[in-house]
Amino acid sequence: PVLVVDYGAQYAQLIARRVREARVYSEIVPHSMPVEQMLAKKPAAIVLSGGPSSVYAEGAPGVDPALFDAGVPVFGICYGFQAMAQALGGTVARTGLSEFGGTPLRVTSAGDLLAGQPEEQTVWMSHGDAVHEAPAGFEVLATSAGAPVAAFEDRARRLAGVQYHPEVVHTAHGQSVLERFLHDVAGIRPTWTMVNIVDETVAAIREKVGSGRLVCGLSGGVDSAVAAALVQRAVGDQLTCVFVDHGLLRKGEAEQVERDFVAATGVSLKVVDAQKRFLDALAGVTDPEEKRKIIGREFIRVFEQAAREVVADAGAHGETVEFLVQGTLYPDVVESGGGEGAANIKSHHNVGGLPDDLQFQLVEPLRALFKDEVRRVGEELGLPAEIVWRQPFPGPGLGIRIIGEVTAERLDILREADAIAREELTLAGLDRDIWQCPVVLLADVRSVGVQGDGRTYGHPVVLRPVSSEDAMTADWSRLPYDVLARISTRITNEVREINRVVLDVTSKPPGTIEWE
Ligand code: XMP
Repeated sequence: PVLVVDYGAQYAQLIARRVREARVYSEIVPHSMPVEQMLAKKPAAIVLSGGPSSVYAEGAPGVDPALFDAGVPVFGICYGFQAMAQALGGTVARTGLSEFGGTPLRVTSAGDLLAGQPEEQTVWMSHGDAVHEAPAGFEVLATSAGAPVAAFEDRARRLAGVQYHPEVVHTAHGQSVLERFLHDVAGIRPTWTMVNIVDETVAAIREKVGSGRLVCGLSGGVDSAVAAALVQRAVGDQLTCVFVDHGLLRKGEAEQVERDFVAATGVSLKVVDAQKRFLDALAGVTDPEEKRKIIGREFIRVFEQAAREVVADAGAHGETVEFLVQGTLYPDVVESGGGEGAANIKSHHNVGGLPDDLQFQLVEPLRALFKDEVRRVGEELGLPAEIVWRQPFPGPGLGIRIIGEVTAERLDILREADAIAREELTLAGLDRDIWQCPVVLLADVRSVGVQGDGRTYGHPVVLRPVSSEDAMTADWSRLPYDVLARISTRITNEVREINRVVLDVTSKPPGTIEWE
């Protein structure tokens, strides 16, 4: 792999993704990892990320110079660039001219790294210190007002670096810098393609499970679907999927799992119709946290029962079910500080709450993948686009989008309104511009309206379109008025109980994305 050494900036994951976009496999490691341990991973190259410290501050994480003696190509970015310069005998100092944001850069000598790039360009900077003198053996390639040495390389030793951030989109030629380093300076062949990801994952699953049997819970979302499809491709009929239909999915989603997913993959699927059970458990409940707890608890119970049946079925044929498939993604692994082996159980729709007498080994085929890679794997495996491109949807489903008690009738009303909103957003080509658009039914609110010649006394729904990078923060999406108008007209015309459509124009914070 290419190792991305994380110096504590928020950029390490982004760098790792960009490296993979250059079709080279990457992994993130903490800067505290000893050099021998990094080298033991047989890295094809090492990228030192940016970080918040100043290289000459007390206790600043440095780079062990041994890293540069191993013959492994190294690329430094921002802080990593300065740490590299310092470790190899260059000088780093405060310039007095900090640069933040878009900054003009002049390429003075393209070298291998900046070959083919415009002499004058804008790059994204974020630094107070700068490299003043490059270490011996390095050629200076570029400069900016605040960074006398803004890029350098040592071709013989295959070491290079830049003061700016090539991984952010604001650096127009950034991806090309990374690709020049990886493909040309380091000489790595770009083989991390979807076909190879699928082949390697399938081989790894086969090796891990042998002839063992597996069970997998499907939620309707992309992660569990792709995880299951990969396992299905690897070991076919050793897998049984369980789909708990709790009745809180959106229109058509249960069918997507039960019909389209099965048709695309051929998995053996056990469907549990638990709609009545969930409605009974939710009867009379209006408190959001209580709803979430009830839905989570019921889900685990129903899944547990289904898993026991799968185990019993296998037992009747003299077999055991040893493995549980989970759709854990690489960011979850990195964020939980886990390298190898650290089992990370996602909240809510997982089965971390299973009792001790029902324990499985985890199989997590997506542990190495970012979300966008999971989607592309899903496409490669031929899964339905509705599943592969599904926007984030909360585990408790529509249960937390009905403000007030959840009833079958209210679920039907919300499902219709939500389906109209989704359809119009898709028709307008906005699906990939917005992060998600919850539709929320204010079930206990009524307002007066007029329709035809008559007075109505119906409910409002709220549209909550948001744009976001990671759901931690979000802004309300400025949807075109004509799209909003079409959604509003159609919902009030087609869903009898709704006579008003309102738009939520709150960012997060202070509002959360969901209303409950
Ligand atoms: P909030 O409402 O906290 O939502 O701003 C942030 C993101 O998380 C989703 N969400 C959930 N996802 N289980 C999930 O798997 C949950 O219980 C849950 N609650 C909220 C929400 O849709 C948004 O994308």
